[in-house]
Amino acid sequence: MTSRRPAMGMADFHTHIIPGIDDGSRSAEMSLEMIKTSVEYGAGAIVLTPHFYATHDNPKHFFEKREKCMKTLASAGAGKLIPIRYGAEVAFFDGIAETDELKKLRISGTKNILIEMPFHPWPQRVADEIMALNRNRDYQIILAHIERFFDYFKPETFDMFLSQGILMQSNAEFFIDQRTRKKALKLLEEGKIHILGSDCHNMTTRKPNLGEACEIISGRLGDGVIEEMVKRSHLLLKKVI
Ligand SMILES: [Fe+2]
Repeated sequence: MTSRRPAMGMADFHTHIIPGIDDGSRSAEMSLEMIKTSVEYGAGAIVLTPHFYATHDNPKHFFEKREKCMKTLASAGAGKLIPIRYGAEVAFFDGIAETDELKKLRISGTKNILIEMPFHPWPQRVADEIMALNRNRDYQIILAHIERFFDYFKPETFDMFLSQGILMQSNAEFFIDQRTRKKALKLLEEGKIHILGSDCHNMTTRKPNLGEACEIISGRLGDGVIEEMVKRSHLLLKKVI
């Protein structure tokens, strides 16, 4: 009997696995459990993306804290289980496009930056600033859990972002939840969702669940769709800087 793993090597682009840095994992033990679960369902790499809020943190403090918490995770042996990259889930802030230190918040070795947009209707200046940042060749923007923002932007803004090459990450939950599954599958088929993340925070209410979403996608759209997403996820992690 073959033990096919549903995620088929896909990288999880959005996780809160670093212990003690944000509202995610509380301990190295919990982090290891989260990583082991990800390995079991076949994740091929994990991107660690703790929250960064410019309103009450600064990059220097964030890096120091991330370094310290990463060491705890590394000494628990996390890196032996799966390839790990680190980055941040950067909450949008005014002036983001002109902030040079933003470079340090990119996913390690890449130009990709995961940005969490505001949870209220976006004024035009917000969309304009994202477009300005996107024109900067030092960045490839990935918008985090895009499904949470559909009430806050106009369809034309979404289309414009897509046409300019901004990438869309959706959470596994968007596919798992029966109330949103149809919409998630439609957007994926239309090429409007590019990568997945579990956005896992713990082992109970928000556990690693990429495998469950991949099973649903394979079942409805076929393995080919997953294979394509796996390929894309690794291309995006290819070191370029
Ligand atoms: Fe998150």
